[in-house]
Amino acid sequence: MDTVQGARLDVRYSGKPVGAEVCGIDLSQHLDDSTFAAIKQLFDSNGMIFFRGQSLTPEQQIAFTARFGTPDKHVRQEYALPGYPQIHLISNVKDGERSIGSAYAGDDWHTDLCFMRKPARYAFLHAIEVPTRDGKVLGDTCFASTAHAYDTLDAETRDWLDRQRGVFRYHRAQERKQQQRARDHARPPLTAAQKAATPDVSHDAVITHPETGRRCIYINKTYTFSFEGMSEEDSAPILKRLHEHITRDEAVYTHKWQTGDIIMWDNYSTQHMAVGDYALPQRRLMHRTAICGVEEFGARVLAE
Ligand code: SIN
Repeated sequence: MDTVQGARLDVRYSGKPVGAEVCGIDLSQHLDDSTFAAIKQLFDSNGMIFFRGQSLTPEQQIAFTARFGTPDKHVRQEYALPGYPQIHLISNVKDGERSIGSAYAGDDWHTDLCFMRKPARYAFLHAIEVPTRDGKVLGDTCFASTAHAYDTLDAETRDWLDRQRGVFRYHRAQERKQQQRARDHARPPLTAAQKAATPDVSHDAVITHPETGRRCIYINKTYTFSFEGMSEEDSAPILKRLHEHITRDEAVYTHKWQTGDIIMWDNYSTQHMAVGDYALPQRRLMHRTAICGVEEFGARVLAE
């Protein structure tokens, strides 16, 4: 048992710079303030924590999420759980020809909504259905700490990166994904309104975590196409080296899902990637909630 913020929490650390299981808590019940403060402090310092064996109604998941801020409504409302605009379905399950959720979402390293002026802060996934094959769990999610990545960069790169800004392009990333995505899970193209809400944007390449004060690398493989003022061609080898550094094996925690898991991550201090090693009839269904950040990291909207 660890004592965190005065409350006793049963925590099992992953042994990696990110990832910790909190045992013995039922999130469907109201958490008293000292337990909540202890969870929040563990979450801030670790970046990704999880709870096994939970069974939350949509209302309970939204209520738990709301303790961390204002629940966000995902820009792709076509994948909301009917009646719950705050719950975004991540799923390969189909209703006739139509995918009920965002299929194979986040299948390369990224942080959520980093292409918005105010990027996503926290995300919460509740595992409703987890795919398996021959008893083996599929569809893992991998996490890396961007704070640890910054701390372990060589001083010269750190100093250079501190002065850079990353360019984030949602439309380009969607086009690239559309080409890679399995034919039977093609997403509808972005509407004019969705496009207008997601112009290209640049952010500081290193951000300061508002609670811990740690510096965190804020570029990622899916959405960062270049550094501001540099061509994509010149940026590519530097971005590649940074991606490899952030996601090197010894720094990555791989979450093996169980039905009922609630996992939560901090998009300021971590990156993640979902492994797409399953296909129907192996079903995967996650209920996702999120908190949009209130911070901007020098955000600048760029002309197309
Ligand atoms: C995401 O990137 O938000 C999805 C993660 C997952 O489905 O495991």
